[in-house]
Amino acid sequence: MGARSRIGGRMREYPRPAAGTQPEYLYAGYRSTLLRAPKQPLIVLPHTLSERTGPLFGHNPIGETDNDLTRQCKHEPQGERIIVAGRVMDEDGRPLPGTLVELWQANAAGRYRHARDDHRAPLDPNFMGAGRAFTDDGGRYRFTTIKPGAYPWRNHANAWRPAHLHFSLFGPAWVARLVTQMFFTNDPLLPLDPVLQSIADEGARNRLVSSFDLSLTEPEWALGYRFDIVLRGRNATPFEE
Ligand SMILES: [Fe+2]
Repeated sequence: MGARSRIGGRMREYPRPAAGTQPEYLYAGYRSTLLRAPKQPLIVLPHTLSERTGPLFGHNPIGETDNDLTRQCKHEPQGERIIVAGRVMDEDGRPLPGTLVELWQANAAGRYRHARDDHRAPLDPNFMGAGRAFTDDGGRYRFTTIKPGAYPWRNHANAWRPAHLHFSLFGPAWVARLVTQMFFTNDPLLPLDPVLQSIADEGARNRLVSSFDLSLTEPEWALGYRFDIVLRGRNATPFEE
């Protein structure tokens, strides 16, 4: 069932995602879902007017190095420099300009700059691990960063998360908020990752895997990866639960 609203004079649909295209609330292989998954069937409520029209994020100015995680400290961070770029679109493939895209990640050694990360890997004094950008008129965003390392996560014996970037997006309304993860193609850990595999639909899983893009790659500088993001609809990027 789709909620409807009139925004900018046109009827706007926010269709619910198709079954199997989002992570399962309860996925036995992903241990923390056992505790947090709802025990009762969900009650589907219609989207409210305030969900469809707001609230929106505050307009703090975005700094010059906010989308370049290699230039936020005194020196360059360690690791393989990469460019990650793509388009943010709605369910009909229309670009979404002015979308706030936030990114956070582990460093090249697989360690987060976070009090609860006790992975026995070095912190990098020159890597904060967070950035943000607005999409331009064509819905395009772009980051320069460091390829993150895999890290262990104690979900099961010898459990390792594949290299990934965390994304949060604020679209045109609260119901178009998206929190998700981006992976790298051909990573041998992808088939072993319960977080990714908790999405039943193969096509939906593949939408979380970026593709190597020679046209984004800058000679003598950095490999480029493309990651397009769809907020809602049948081709929606899966939402991290
Ligand atoms: Fe992570």
